[in-house]
Amino acid sequence: MKYARITGWGKYAPAKVLTNFDLEKMVETSNEWILERTGIRERRIAAPEETASTMSVEAAKQALSRAGISPQDLDLIILATSSPDYHLPAAASLVQDMLGAKYVPAFDLRAGCTGFLYALAVATQFIATGAYRNILVIGTEIISKFIDWTDRNTCVLFGDAAGAVVLQPSDYPTGVISFLLGSDGSQADALIAYGGGSKYPFSQEVLDRKLNYIRMDGPRVFKFAVRVMVQSVREIMASSGLLPDEVSLIIPHQANIRIIQAAAKELGIPMEKFYINLDRYGNTSAASIPVALCEAIEEGRIKDGDNIIMVSFGAGLTWGACAVKWGVAEAIPFFVVEPAKALSMLKRVQRAAANIGGTLLLPLYTMKSWGKNLKIRRK
Ligand code: UT7
Repeated sequence: MKYARITGWGKYAPAKVLTNFDLEKMVETSNEWILERTGIRERRIAAPEETASTMSVEAAKQALSRAGISPQDLDLIILATSSPDYHLPAAASLVQDMLGAKYVPAFDLRAGCTGFLYALAVATQFIATGAYRNILVIGTEIISKFIDWTDRNTCVLFGDAAGAVVLQPSDYPTGVISFLLGSDGSQADALIAYGGGSKYPFSQEVLDRKLNYIRMDGPRVFKFAVRVMVQSVREIMASSGLLPDEVSLIIPHQANIRIIQAAAKELGIPMEKFYINLDRYGNTSAASIPVALCEAIEEGRIKDGDNIIMVSFGAGLTWGACAVKWGVAEAIPFFVVEPAKALSMLKRVQRAAANIGGTLLLPLYTMKSWGKNLKIRRK
């Protein structure tokens, strides 16, 4: 079993900034309302010629360069997005071609704003089984092209961006330690773009009724978001054996500061432990977590050995969380041996020592055995 560690990261945001004051001139809203109800001050809006794939490529190039690998070294590309260039083919294939990652398998993954964490979990499985070694995971959203710019319920919330990470295998417990995913399709109508799919194929009626745009029941999504964020953080801490004090940083989906504050309060975790950049980007859906991850690293908020939790929710309605041990060090500095396993380990060591007829190699065998079979915790 291999661990999937994050060895490269990158982000891209379009140059154009749309402020709350700009929005005041477009719909009946105010800077005060947006700031107070969401925490958002401004967001980035893609240029007409930009697409999900062009933005993804920018983030991907940075991630590959940080990981020190070339596009040809990749074994797989997964692109999480709800705003691909086309319905067909996948934007991931376009990215694969634009990067020059010849014949590398690539696919899109749709799970709304939770898409990046779903993609991270999928990629982790390919690494864990040893099937692939170098995987590019991208979260991209060009949601401005799916927004009704006359609907104040949605147009003040979203922004465009892309984020990417490279995953590579490690024999030691680092990188993605555990994950959880969830979905409740009975609430699909809470956040939906009806038009253009097989139920309402594009037609004049779809356009007349503006079914091609995103519709959202904000208060319903809000309540759902707080509930699943609290539940997901608790569950992921339990499944990864982390106590609140051992978590250095929580990177939540950047949708609304009030959602994060409400979840933090219920969890009893101070807001200082939550990374926030939604004031500058708004809700960038599947790009929100990888972009926040990049900025947290740039700001020195994440260091080697840190335990971080990423948690998200979105259309589906879906949710997910990942616990990540940050760092690229292969060495294990300290061991804590679980008592239940200590006895069997001792017996194995004795047997091994007897088998090789001496004790000279004992320390070496012990190290190997511990690394493979024991739960290892940092001191
Ligand atoms: O990635 C997941 C994506 N979605 C989300 O995370 C969204 C979750 N929901 C939210 O963030 C919040 O529900 C919103 C920010 C969307 C709305 O905030 P709220 O506090 O739930 O407001 P509300 O929808 O209950 O609306 C309160 C009032 C309404 O007026 P009345 O009926 O009280 O007269 C709205 O019409 O605010 C009005 N309103 C606005 N006023 C000024 C709604 N949007 C705006 C606006 N500017 N942009």
